[in-house]
Amino acid sequence: MHGSLAANVTLLEAIKAAPASARLAVCAPFPYLAQCQALLAGSAVAWGAQDVSAEARGAFTGEVAASMLAEFGASYALVGHSERRSYHGETDATVAAKAVRALEFGIVPVVCVGESLAQREAGETEAVVGRQLGAVLEALSLDQLGRIVLAYEPVWAIGTGKTASSEQAQAVHAFLRAQVAARDAGVAARMAMLYGGSVKPDNAAELFSMPDIDGGLIGGASLKSDDFLAIGNA
Ligand code: 13P
Repeated sequence: MHGSLAANVTLLEAIKAAPASARLAVCAPFPYLAQCQALLAGSAVAWGAQDVSAEARGAFTGEVAASMLAEFGASYALVGHSERRSYHGETDATVAAKAVRALEFGIVPVVCVGESLAQREAGETEAVVGRQLGAVLEALSLDQLGRIVLAYEPVWAIGTGKTASSEQAQAVHAFLRAQVAARDAGVAARMAMLYGGSVKPDNAAELFSMPDIDGGLIGGASLKSDDFLAIGNA
């Protein structure tokens, strides 16, 4: 829930003018999607939403359907961000249903998984992210699975300034990729897996150098175009 029409213009114009050294996408709050559509048209920067309904249409007041995102030309929707899971009670099944719904309308779901600090300290990281990913593996066909982006965001690292070390993040990414590989090795090898949680210009390159970390899901640092672009360049 960051941004304003005026602030977004500055941010999006700066991002749009950047050399396309990385594949960049911006996921904005719903009211600003039309602004993204207008300002990013014809640029290399893709855009999407921060959530999408699991329902196709109907009386679900306040929800936004995947078909509506598709109508505007959105490419992506985050699903299962930890803030949606914890503040809005989204279950693994809801998150999987959202991913299915997004794919039905040609939207790439960025499926977010991650453990809390208490879960990490209790040695439950793999059990938690394995369960979160497992619901998605169960709900998606192989073809659908080949079209998602997966994001590992340890809850304890989001907005806290505490980044998982590159080794900690790599270990979880390798675990997640192995879970996907148990379904299909080719899909697992091609799947983009993003790390999120206090990614900054000064830690991005090291995180992205890890073999199973293909990119980042950037929160706070995405609000400063210079930082976002520096991360993109990394
Ligand atoms: P921060 O980069 O601010 O930690 O946020 C990560 C995140 O949750 C992106 O969705």
